[in-house]
Amino acid sequence: MLTLGIETSCDETSVALLADGNILASEVFTQGVHSAYGGVVPELASRAHIAKVDVLAKSLFVKNKIACSAVDCIAVTDSPGLAGALLVGIGFALGFHCQFGIPVTGVNHLEGHLCSLFLEHPDLCHPFLALIVSGGHTAIYRVDDFGRYRCLGRTVDDAAGEAFDKIGKMLGFPYPAGRAIEQEALGSAAGDEISFPVARLGGPSLDFSFSGLKTAVKYFCEEKGEAWTAKNKAAICRAFQKAVVDSLARNLAAAAGQTGISTIGVAGGVACNGELRRTLVSHFGDKVFFPSPALCTDNAAMIARAGYERMKRKMLRFPTMNPSAAL
Ligand code: KG4
Ligand code: ZN
Repeated sequence: MLTLGIETSCDETSVALLADGNILASEVFTQGVHSAYGGVVPELASRAHIAKVDVLAKSLFVKNKIACSAVDCIAVTDSPGLAGALLVGIGFALGFHCQFGIPVTGVNHLEGHLCSLFLEHPDLCHPFLALIVSGGHTAIYRVDDFGRYRCLGRTVDDAAGEAFDKIGKMLGFPYPAGRAIEQEALGSAAGDEISFPVARLGGPSLDFSFSGLKTAVKYFCEEKGEAWTAKNKAAICRAFQKAVVDSLARNLAAAAGQTGISTIGVAGGVACNGELRRTLVSHFGDKVFFPSPALCTDNAAMIARAGYERMKRKMLRFPTMNPSAAL
C-alpha cells in the first residue's frame, strides 16, 4: 500500500511516500525566512508553503519514478497548527484527491509525531508512555493502542521547544534555537555551576511549566550584565538545558510510577537533544525509544505513517482544518 503524506502545519513543507508503512522517499523543506524574526511569521509560512508544496511533490514522484495514480491513500495534517499553513496542505491534498479519486484522511499533527516512533521501531509495543516535546507542544500521553491516547500531563504555559527558542532569542541565536543552545552548552565545563529552578506543580500533577524558568534566566542575565552574560553563554545554556531536561525526566519517571508502564517513546523536535536522550536512557535503559533526529522534527513521513494506520483500520476521516485541536 502506497501512502502519500503532506505536512504544512508550521514552518516545514514536507511530502513523503511510504510503501506498506515504510519510508520510500521523503522531502523536507525548512523555511529559512523566519530566522530573522525570532519566531514563525504565519503569513510568510503560508506563502512559503504555497511556493514549495507542489514543487516538492513533483520531485518526489519524478525522482522515484512513481505515478501519482499509484497512491492508495493521501494523509494530510489538518490539525493543530497555523490556520493558513494547514489550509495550504489540505487544499493540495484535496486537489490530489479530486484529480485521481484517491482516498484522503486528515491527520492530527501530534498523532503524526507519535507515529514517527513506529517508522524505525517495530519492536515498540503498547501500552507505552509518550512524551511529545516540540516547539508547540509538551505533553505526556498514555498510549494503549493506535487511536487510544490519554493525556496525563501537559505544559500549562510555554512548550519546552518554545522555551529553547525564547532563551535563544534572548542570547542572540537565530530561530529555531534548540540545536544552537545544545551546541553552545557543549562548550561549558561541568564545574560551571549555575542552576535555574523549574516550577513543580505539586502533588501528583504531571503538568509542566517553563515560563518561570524563562523569567529566571532573563533576570539572572540582567543582574550579571551584558559582558558577563556574553562571556558565560555556554554555562547559561548548559544550566538552562539541564533545568528543562530534569523537568521532563522527573515527570516521565512520575508517570511511569503512577501507571506502572516503563516503556517510553519520545517524539518532537526537542527529542533531537542529546542531553535529553542521555538522561532518559540513564533512567529507562533500553525501554526508551527515540526517532532518529530527522524524524523528530516536523516531516511528512510521520503523517503518512499515521494515515497508513488509519487506512489499515478503516478509520479515514475527511480533513477538517482545526488549528487548536488536542490529541
Ligand atoms: O517538532 P518540531 O519540528 O515542530 C513543532 O511541532 O513544534 O519542533 C521544533 C522545536 C523547536 O522549538 C526547536 O528549537 C526544537 O524543536 N529543537 C531542539 C533541538 N532541535 C530542535 N530543542 C533542543 N535541542 C535540540 N537539539
Ligand atoms: Zn511538530
